[in-house]
Amino acid sequence: MKAQLEKIYGNAATDLAKAESINDVETVKDKYLSRKGEFNSIKKNLKDLSDEDKRIVGALANEITRKLETSLKAKHDELYTKELNEKLQTEKIDITLPGKFIPRGHVHPITSTINEITAIFQGLGFSLIKNELSPEVETEYYNFDMLNFPPDHPAKDMQDTFYTKAAPNVILRSQTSSAQIRAMELQKPPIRIISPGRVYRNEAVNSRKNNFFHQIEGLYVDKDITFGNLKGVLNEFIRIYFGESRPARFRASYFPFTEPSAEVDVQCIICGGTGCRTCSGTGWLEILGAGMVDPNVLKGVGVDPDVYSGFAFGMGVERLSMLKYAIDDIRLFFNNDVRFLKQF
Ligand code: PHE
Repeated sequence: MKAQLEKIYGNAATDLAKAESINDVETVKDKYLSRKGEFNSIKKNLKDLSDEDKRIVGALANEITRKLETSLKAKHDELYTKELNEKLQTEKIDITLPGKFIPRGHVHPITSTINEITAIFQGLGFSLIKNELSPEVETEYYNFDMLNFPPDHPAKDMQDTFYTKAAPNVILRSQTSSAQIRAMELQKPPIRIISPGRVYRNEAVNSRKNNFFHQIEGLYVDKDITFGNLKGVLNEFIRIYFGESRPARFRASYFPFTEPSAEVDVQCIICGGTGCRTCSGTGWLEILGAGMVDPNVLKGVGVDPDVYSGFAFGMGVERLSMLKYAIDDIRLFFNNDVRFLKQF
């Protein structure tokens, strides 16, 4: 039995020497030291020995078991350190490496221009009307008829309108002026609102014109509103938006829904007034149309023109942005070229 024990110990030592991982060590431990392990099956036979032999063999079995436990532990620790060192080597993090660059998005220049203009008019006492009061898919009724465009009036051709097949008279709005009607239908004077949004016109695209663009509509209706109020508000807007030094001019114009009507130009920022491609050689760029709300429009929405008067204006957002930042091509806003967009 003694010899048997020595032999098992020898086998165990050989197995352990071959172990290459902690897992291998566990396998050796199981094979020899577990309840069903080789040493235990020997120990079971102890009972058949004489008392004297029991003592000697028992002591030897215990000694060998302890020796094996010690070398298992030593091997385990050795492999643990080895595996840990390997891990530390391969998974090591170089904290001096630069981090990954995650580009950050930002507001589109059209949106930021709308926000800026909106804030100016809010400062002048205007409030922003809800988006749903100013839909992009409109009816001719709101876009033209209620704005005093007589049926079949050639003025309807002034703005080359996109008609839809959704239903007769459903169009892509050609102007935000439809919001004037919707606002006055819902609210009695005093009314002081602005309404920004996208409009569509069937135009040949070039550096100054796109077939959709953005407008901000304004409407002020109350008792005793005069053309002086209109000029005061718009001049104040131009002063805040462009600064004191940008020349502006009012020109007489025509719109079916305002009387009298005006257009406002500011001096071209690209050429400084000498004339260039952007301003078609005139030195001026039109930024908005405006005028006193036509009495017919007020009557249409049930506002008495003998009691109330008002003014309205509609400005081109792209134009205002181009003039402020010296952008010479409207298409840049819509090409989504990040080299352009990230400058804002
Ligand atoms: N809706 C006009 C246009 O698109 C601008 C305008 C708005 C004119 C309000 C007068 C009053 O050209």
